Amino acid sequence: MNIAVLASHGGSNLQAIIDGCKSGKIGGRVCVVISNNGGSMALKRAANEGIPAFHISKATAPDFEELLLKTLQTHGSDIVFLAGYLKKVPTNVLEAYKGKIYNIHPSLLPKYGGKGMFGINVHAAVLAAGETETGVTIHRVTAEYDEGDILAQKKVRVLADDTPEALAARVLEQEHGLLAEFLAEL
Ligand code: GRF
Repeated sequence: MNIAVLASHGGSNLQAIIDGCKSGKIGGRVCVVISNNGGSMALKRAANEGIPAFHISKATAPDFEELLLKTLQTHGSDIVFLAGYLKKVPTNVLEAYKGKIYNIHPSLLPKYGGKGMFGINVHAAVLAAGETETGVTIHRVTAEYDEGDILAQKKVRVLADDTPEALAARVLEQEHGLLAEFLAEL
């Protein structure tokens, strides 16, 4: 299985996928990494591993949609995994990879998803609402943020003295495990 990964920032989930492939837990390889952010750690991590990596964004390419699809196809991508990708996936890519695009989100969707619900905002909202549990969701990607069939979830307990940062760190750790398990069974 050739896995394309789209990521905007840190890329710790990308690294978990790479490590899962290297250890043999995931029966596949990361064939290409694409980021909308030229300075992202995700691109550096890909380069460190010798994985083809590209900065493709609306700001740098007028034909962004075509270039994104062509890059995915040129590298033989079978599936596309969004690992902290903060942009919407264009329609041409959604159509070409129908049902084969997945996203990981740091909450128990449908709670705490949608526009503006990314990064620390998610965990701050969970704490502000007084939730006693939160977690991680992997779902199919549609044209809307954080919608689409839910395929896997893992719960994380909220602690009485949690800060958004502390909660984010515990959730992120669970993300790494869940996505390796999920991709291992795909
Ligand atoms: C993760 O919390 C993921 O669920 C969300 O963005 C974050 C990315 O983290 N979509 P990283 O860049 O993989 O470290």
